[in-house]
Amino acid sequence: MLDNRPDRLPGAREEIAITLEHVTVSYGRVENPKQVAVRDVSLEFPKNQVTALLGPSGCGKTTILRSINRMHDHTTGKVSGSIRIGDLDVYARTTQPEIVRTRVGMVFQRPNLFPTLSIFDNVVSGLRMNGVKKKEFLLEAAEAALRQAALWDSVKNRLGMPAVRLSGGQQQRLCIARALAVEPEVLLLDEPCSALDPLASARIEELIVQLSSHITIAMVTHNLFQATRISDRTAVFLLNDDNAGTLVEAGPTVDLFKAPKDPRTEAYVTGHIG
Ligand SMILES: Nc1ncnc2c1ncn2[C@@H]1O[C@H](COP(=O)(O)OP(=O)(O)OP(=O)(O)O)[C@@H](O)[C@H]1O
Ligand SMILES: [Mg+2]
Repeated sequence: MLDNRPDRLPGAREEIAITLEHVTVSYGRVENPKQVAVRDVSLEFPKNQVTALLGPSGCGKTTILRSINRMHDHTTGKVSGSIRIGDLDVYARTTQPEIVRTRVGMVFQRPNLFPTLSIFDNVVSGLRMNGVKKKEFLLEAAEAALRQAALWDSVKNRLGMPAVRLSGGQQQRLCIARALAVEPEVLLLDEPCSALDPLASARIEELIVQLSSHITIAMVTHNLFQATRISDRTAVFLLNDDNAGTLVEAGPTVDLFKAPKDPRTEAYVTGHIG
């Protein structure tokens, strides 16, 4: 948020990378208003910026992230409203989920590497799923992704080692490298530092800021300090009386923390709700 790149100066024209319009996600097979996890979210994610999603447990942050790359195709979640990545209508009948996932990488709270695969095979797993077979290409892509995730130097001599032998922080960086290998334009990070010690966390934060020079990042975090340190924009979600999550306020992180428009945002960012 301290970044002073020209495209982030006040008044600069922002290109929007992800647009959510009236997005509601419900779980369960039967239409039941009680199963609405998050309701009527309209939110824009400017290109090459970090947007932090904040809010108490259960208010639908993960549910919203998952809706962006069509992960609810594999849950009972039903998504209504519209989601666009650039010009791609994510839920159009003609849009294949695989196409969405080549443009969007996701990293979860806990490293979810393929436990039996090596470091190398983990990094290139997304590319292989996309049908890439050429060894030289895979090697180049693995090196580039591991360099971006600042992991190359510590793993270059042991790419064949089972990935699960890495430390927790290194495993999380490997998950980020795996997501980067397919060269996504959007990265969805769901509490990527919550299982890490402060040093590993700081390194991931640094990495997120660097990546945001060319990738649009949506990051869920419970750490308000982390949001103020690394996000350009913040969106605050809360639970409504009917137990459905709702977007309360979104805007530049500085404004949300210093001059929130909604008293509920103020209560949340000052630690009075949650
Ligand atoms: N696969 C699922 N099936 C049914 N209900 C679900 C499923 N996933 C999430 N929910 C429900 O949707 C609501 C929102 O959950 P979600 O995981 O999105 O919250 P969250 O804001 O990410 O919470 P946390 O901060 O604890 O991770 C919760 O009531 C949760 O129980
Ligand atoms: Mg969550």
